[in-house]
Amino acid sequence: MGSRCGSESISDSGTVALSGSGLRQRALEGCKRVPAHSTDASALVHRPPRRDPIGANGALDEGTAGSRKRAPRASSAAARATLVNRHRVTVSGIPPWVDAARLVGHDPKRPLWLDAHDAADVAERLRNVVLGGSPVRVVVEPGLPRSAVRDARLRAARRRRRRTAGFERSGVRLDAEGRVSLTPEAIALRLARRVRGASVVDACAGCGGNAIAFARAGCPVVAIEIDPGRLAMARHNARVYGVDSRIRFVRGDARDWVARLSADLLFVDPPWGGTNAIRRPPTLHDLPPLEDILAAARGRYERIWVKAPAAFVVGSLPGARVEPVFGLAPGDRDRVKFLLLELSDRS
Ligand SMILES: C[S@@+](CC[C@H](N)C(=O)[O-])C[C@H]1O[C@@H](n2cnc3c(N)ncnc32)[C@H](O)[C@@H]1O
Repeated sequence: MGSRCGSESISDSGTVALSGSGLRQRALEGCKRVPAHSTDASALVHRPPRRDPIGANGALDEGTAGSRKRAPRASSAAARATLVNRHRVTVSGIPPWVDAARLVGHDPKRPLWLDAHDAADVAERLRNVVLGGSPVRVVVEPGLPRSAVRDARLRAARRRRRRTAGFERSGVRLDAEGRVSLTPEAIALRLARRVRGASVVDACAGCGGNAIAFARAGCPVVAIEIDPGRLAMARHNARVYGVDSRIRFVRGDARDWVARLSADLLFVDPPWGGTNAIRRPPTLHDLPPLEDILAAARGRYERIWVKAPAAFVVGSLPGARVEPVFGLAPGDRDRVKFLLLELSDRS
């Protein structure tokens, strides 16, 4: 069985069915099949071409052995551009409500021709990304050198260390679940400032990431948390930020409490723990107690905000306005950290 390397085909023995002319053909001679590196199609590895006296467009390469003739500068630059930006990157599956250019790092509506470094970065940053229930797909043709894929992974791992910080003040308390589920402070504050001064019920307060941000934005807050240890941490953390007097802490089950309370905004950040166990994108039913909380809240809140995983199947919450929330630091400003789903209530 053969395979494809750019627009040329190669057989299992690695021979290339050449068509056309010039250096590009030589470049393709080095292609061998390797396990897929991209999010979709099978990848091909590429060995750098030997120097060839004939450049792309038939121009003579500068300094070629056997020829002292210099190619005109413009043709030489064009030849180099053809060689360098030789990977066509096709991205599909990005929902219309996502800023695709921010996610991909390039405008994916135009054909993307990138060098191996940039193509590998795009493939890496979109690897395993699922948005709103659908996977984002990336195809890189011809496939990338193994070294480019490996280097892109290293760069991504290094970048991830510079993510938006959780709590920025020292002296806060968090347990393991509170730490992973905490809304980063700068993001929580940005969201809270949109509803400055409005009354808020935070149904699943955790260690207080969102409740504290709402209080800092001048909102009177009721923070409900079922876990007593985490509720105590939220109270302590609110003291660290000097806003404990603006938050009423309630230990209990939000499914009971939201039906007794009323506010301008109900904020629900349910545990996402279950999402690791299921191999398909989570729906409303996969994020207990969200469904029950929404049912209990009906008619009592002006607006409802749900913080859901980026992969959440948005169709499972009909009528919701979807907003992807990106990170704010160099390590995650191109990543959708979560979805903010807005529902209007009191209907
Ligand atoms: C994702 S965390 C919230 C994180 C929080 N937004 C923050 O930034 O710190 C979800 C929290 O909901 C709590 N929880 C789960 N079920 C609950 C329920 N029925 N009622 C109230 N809280 C609940 C969990 O104990 C957990 O602390």
